[in-house]
Amino acid sequence: MKILVINGSPKAKNGNTEVIINQFINGAKAPYEVCYAAKEDSQQLADYMHHFDTVIVAMPLYIHAMPGIVMKLIGCMEPAIEDEKSMGFIVQFGFMESAHSKYLEKYLSSLAKHLNYNYLGTVVRGGSAGISMMPNKMNKKLFSQMQMLGEYFEKEGAFDKEIMNEMAKLIELSKGKSRMFQFLSRIGIGDSIFWNQMLKKNNALDRAFDKPFVV
Ligand SMILES: Cc1cc2nc3c(=O)[nH]c(=O)nc-3n(C[C@H](O)[C@H](O)[C@H](O)COP(=O)(O)O)c2cc1C
Repeated sequence: MKILVINGSPKAKNGNTEVIINQFINGAKAPYEVCYAAKEDSQQLADYMHHFDTVIVAMPLYIHAMPGIVMKLIGCMEPAIEDEKSMGFIVQFGFMESAHSKYLEKYLSSLAKHLNYNYLGTVVRGGSAGISMMPNKMNKKLFSQMQMLGEYFEKEGAFDKEIMNEMAKLIELSKGKSRMFQFLSRIGIGDSIFWNQMLKKNNALDRAFDKPFVV
């Protein structure tokens, strides 16, 4: 089985998608080829995909959707001529509820079918914005899940459903928890502490509520 992994993060090797892909690959023994949507010509990469039996596209969620570079790449993809090819996806993002990617997942499943690929499913992992900034021990569970997914994938050519379900477990916050987070954010002790620090570091705190596209 020839597998191509496409990293769809605009940050290429410097993002959380890369960390997640590396753990997935660590779980498998055979070397996987990884290509970067941010570094390759979209048409060339879309054509190159045809040399592989299985393609896994991993990406972050940017503004509730796939990054523009992934959209551009998809626009260049042609349906596979041979049957029996497979395509799966890994989508990770900042918000903790996996429901944030539900529309994208629906699209990805139709896309695979439209391209004449067998759809392997989408691995979803919310709460992932801090992965590359956190010490490895704080990512222990995620890393072990990704390695197990990689190990299983190598043997079965599919994602392990149990691990996928476990990773996407928090589908939606309960009303009570949602209210609690709103309250914490209002009194300034939500995750805005972290984001405000980032804004300060980039001299952009005073521009946090700018609306550059409002006429
Ligand atoms: C421009 C931008 C838009 C984002 N939009 C969302 C979003 O709509 N929902 C979400 O949960 N996370 C969002 N995030 C957080 C990213 O999905 C998260 O940080 C992810 O781990 C980034 O992966 P990467 O480092 O590989 O690019 C956004 C991040 C950026 C930079």
